[in-house]
Amino acid sequence: MFRTARSSPGTRSRSSGRRDTLTTSAPATTALSALTEAVGAGGVVVVSGAGLSTESGIPDYRGPSGVRREHRPMTYQEFVGSADGRQRYWARSYLGWRLIATATPNAGHRSVSALQRAGLVAGIVTQNVDGLHQAAGARDVVELHGTLAWVRCLCCGHRVTRVELDRRMSAANPGFADQVTVTAVHPDGDVPLTDADVAGFVVPDCERCGGVLKPDVVYFGECVPRDRVDRSFALVEDARLLLVLGSSLTVMSGYRFVLRAAKLGIPVGIVNAGPTRGDTRAAYRVDAALGSTLTHLSRSLGVVDV
Ligand SMILES: NC(=O)c1ccc[n+]([C@@H]2O[C@H](COP(=O)([O-])OP(=O)(O)OC[C@H]3O[C@@H](n4cnc5c(N)ncnc54)[C@H](O)[C@@H]3O)[C@@H](O)[C@H]2O)c1
Ligand SMILES: [Zn+2]
Repeated sequence: MFRTARSSPGTRSRSSGRRDTLTTSAPATTALSALTEAVGAGGVVVVSGAGLSTESGIPDYRGPSGVRREHRPMTYQEFVGSADGRQRYWARSYLGWRLIATATPNAGHRSVSALQRAGLVAGIVTQNVDGLHQAAGARDVVELHGTLAWVRCLCCGHRVTRVELDRRMSAANPGFADQVTVTAVHPDGDVPLTDADVAGFVVPDCERCGGVLKPDVVYFGECVPRDRVDRSFALVEDARLLLVLGSSLTVMSGYRFVLRAAKLGIPVGIVNAGPTRGDTRAAYRVDAALGSTLTHLSRSLGVVDV
C-alpha cells in the first residue's frame, strides 16, 4: 500500500517524517511522482553510492537484500603494514582495474548530469571511486572516497595517473595477465588470485622517492579527508532535498548526511533497490532500478537530454 508524499514546490518541507514506499520496479508510481515534484523544485543535493554504477557493470557491495557479499576489502592498516598485503593488492587490482577503467556511464549518471545542467541539482557527493559521474558530464563532484584514476606516494605525496602506473606495471610484469585465470571482479576493482599467482608480481615504487604507492582512494579503516567532509556537509545544509541514489547507507561516511539532513528538517529522498539504513528517515522512498527510474523522473520534468 502506498501513501502519497506531497512537497510544496518552492518551499523547503520541514516534515521529513513522511514516507512513500514503492516495491515494484515500474517507474510510474505515486512515490516517484511525489519525488519528481520535489526534485522539480530544485536545490537537490545528490549522494550516490555503488548501486548507481551496477548498470555500468561495476559490482556493488550489498545486493538488493542489503546483505554484504562474500568479499573482504583491503584495509588501510593491512595495506600500509605489510609488503605482502601490498603485493596482493597490486597484483589483483592490476587485473581488476580494467573493468573500472573501461566502464561507461549509464542512464542514471546521465540523468544526474542532465538535472545538474538544468539547474535542479545543486551538488553531487559520491561515495564511488569510478569517475562515472564526471564521465557523464557532471561538474564539481565531491569524490568523498577519492578516485581510482590516480595513485599517490605515501612518502612524498607525488601523484601519478593510474593509466601511467598501469604502463609501468605491465612493463615490470610481462605476461602476468596471461598466466592467471580471472574468475570474478570485486567492487573495489580487484580479482581473486591464489598466493602462487601473486608471488611473482613486481610492485611498483614511487619514481621520485622509492616510496609506497597507494591508489588515491579512502580505504576501509582510513578517514575521509576533512575538507571533503566539510564541503559535503555545506552542500547538504543548503539543500532543499537530499537525494540518495544507490547506497545501502551501511557506511557511516554516507549515512551521516542523511542524519544531518533529518536533523535540519531537510527532506530526504532515496532511490535504491532493496533496503537502506536511511529508510525510516526518508520522505520519499522509491525501491526500483536507477537507470529507468531517473530517466523517467528527468523526462517528466522536461529534462530530455538523457
Ligand atoms: N562504483 C564504485 O566506485 C564502487 C563500487 C563498490 C564499492 N564502492 C565503495 O564501497 C562502499 C559501498 O557503499 P555503498 O553504500 O555505496 O554501496 P552498497 O554496495 O553498500 O549499496 C549499494 C546499494 O545499491 C543497490 N543497487 C544496486 N544496483 C542498483 C540499481 N541498478 N538500481 C537501484 N539500486 C541498486 C543495492 O541493492 C544496494 O542496496 C562505498 O563506500 C564506495 O566507496 C565503490
Ligand atoms: Zn614518493
